[in-house]
Amino acid sequence: MIIYYSSTGNSKHVALRLHETFKGDLIDVCSFEKPASFYLEDNETLYLVTFNCFWGISNQMETFIQKSEFCNVSKIIVIITCGGYLGGGDAFIEKLLLDKGLPKPIVYSLVMVTNYSILHNIPSLEAQKKKVIHAEKVLSKIIQGTQKPYHSNWLIRQLTPKIHAEYEKSRITSPFTVNSSCISCGLCKKKCPVHAIEMKENKPFWVLPKCDNCLCCLHHCPVEAINYGDSTGKRLRYTYESCSQRVL
Ligand SMILES: Cc1cc2nc3c(=O)[nH]c(=O)nc-3n(C[C@H](O)[C@H](O)[C@H](O)COP(=O)(O)O)c2cc1C
Ligand code: SF4
Ligand code: SF4
Repeated sequence: MIIYYSSTGNSKHVALRLHETFKGDLIDVCSFEKPASFYLEDNETLYLVTFNCFWGISNQMETFIQKSEFCNVSKIIVIITCGGYLGGGDAFIEKLLLDKGLPKPIVYSLVMVTNYSILHNIPSLEAQKKKVIHAEKVLSKIIQGTQKPYHSNWLIRQLTPKIHAEYEKSRITSPFTVNSSCISCGLCKKKCPVHAIEMKENKPFWVLPKCDNCLCCLHHCPVEAINYGDSTGKRLRYTYESCSQRVL
C-alpha cells in the first residue's frame, strides 16, 4: 500500500514509480476529507511518501497519519522528498509512527527540485534537469533496495524541533496576494488541500488564517498571479509535471 501527499508533484511522481513496481493500493491523502482506516495484507509493506517541511512533514500529512488507523502493519518504508536537506525529518516521522504503536520505519531522503520559493530560488531549467535525472537514479536504487537509508545524527535530531517550530509561523495566509493577471480560473481554490481559498468577486481570497503552506496554489496558478510576501514575485514557478515535460 502506497500513501502519498504531494503539493507540486515530486512526491506524487515517487508514489507512481513505486506503484509501477510494487502495485497494490495507491492512495492520495488529498482525496480524503477525513482520516481513514487502512488494512494491510499479511507481510505487505506500507509505503509513505511525502515532502519535507522545515525538517519535518507538513501539518496535513502529520494530522492524517496521527488520526488514521493502520492495521496489520509489519514494515514501513518512508520516502521524504526534499529540496536539498532533510535535517531530522527521519526522526520526526519515526517518532510520529512509534507514538502510534507502529513499527520503526526505514526512511529514505530523496533530493528533488525545491518548491520553497518563499526562501529559495527555484533552480534554472538546466539545473532542474540535472536534479531530476539524479533523483531518478536514486529512486531506482531505493526501489531496488540498494540505496542507503537516511539517518540524521544526534545534533541534527536535537535541532529539529526548533527548526520545525518555524513551520507553524510560516503557515499564516495573510502574506498571500493575487495580482491583476488572475484569469479567475478557480484552479487555486480547487487544488487547495485544506480549503483555505474561496473565490470572491472571481478572485481568490484566503479564508483561513492558517493553511498547510504547501504552495500548491502559488505554483499551479497558470498565470503566476499568486505571490507570498515579497520574495516569490521574482522567482520561477515549479511543478514536477511541467518540469519533466520541459527538461526530459
Ligand atoms: C513549507 C515548505 C517547507 C519546506 N521545507 C524544506 C526543508 O526544510 N528542507 C528541504 O530540503 N526542502 C524543503 N521544502 C521543499 C520540498 O520539501 C520539496 O520541494 C519537495 O520535493 C516538494 O514535494 P512535492 O512536489 O511532492 O510537494 C519545503 C517546502 C515547503 C512547501
Ligand atoms: S489559479 Fe491563478 S488565475 Fe486561477 S483563479 Fe487562482 S489566482 Fe486566478
Ligand atoms: S492556500 Fe495554498 S499554500 Fe495554503 S494549503 Fe492551500 S494550496 Fe497550500
